Amino acid sequence: MEILIEKFGLYEGINEVIGITFGEWINTAPVGLIVGDDVRVRLYSNHTREFVDKSGTLYVNVIYDPLVFVISAFEDLGKEWFESLDPPVIKGSLSWVKFRAMLDGNFAVLEFLEGDVLRKEVRAVNRGFNALIEATVHATRYVLTGSKTLADKIRYYGRIVERCGGSREKEAYRLLVKYAGLD
Ligand SMILES: Cc1cc2nc3c(=O)[nH]c(=O)nc-3n(C[C@H](O)[C@H](O)[C@H](O)COP(=O)(O)O)c2cc1C
Repeated sequence: MEILIEKFGLYEGINEVIGITFGEWINTAPVGLIVGDDVRVRLYSNHTREFVDKSGTLYVNVIYDPLVFVISAFEDLGKEWFESLDPPVIKGSLSWVKFRAMLDGNFAVLEFLEGDVLRKEVRAVNRGFNALIEATVHATRYVLTGSKTLADKIRYYGRIVERCGGSREKEAYRLLVKYAGLD
């Protein structure tokens, strides 16, 4: 299984991707796809979980757009963000994969169905992008808890975004602090 899905950019460990599910609307949210002996995702009680439960299907997009991560963490991407809806592909995605998804406790266990690679992109590691992802993870928890420790962590990663990120990472960070109410 791992060998096959590596083709789509999904490697052993946790892969931060955008999960897309269909229900009363098209739901988008960053999720961490865990690739090991099997492929699974831990799902908290959110719409992704609800729609996976109803539809039995999870699509994922591999993408490097920081704005897509921030917006989809707090609301859903509108149709204008997509280059296609069947299969669902957010503009700029490098690949998409469709999984059959079965809830098992806190997890959904995933079975590869189909997928495609849309773009081959050469990209160096950018600490600004990585820091933006860390800040976004903390922000999704911060809005639930209001923890000062988390707010400090978000600001810490924000300084790395400012130092190492490009203009899109910086724009995404500014949006993130608004969503989190830290502006
Ligand atoms: C990088 C990243 C990874 C995330 N991974 C997960 C995850 O694996 N499972 C999960 O339930 N939430 C995860 N979250 C949080 C959800 O994206 C967030 O709670 C989102 O608002 C859920 O939206 P929904 O209700 O539309 O599904 C992650 C957030 C980020 C920024």
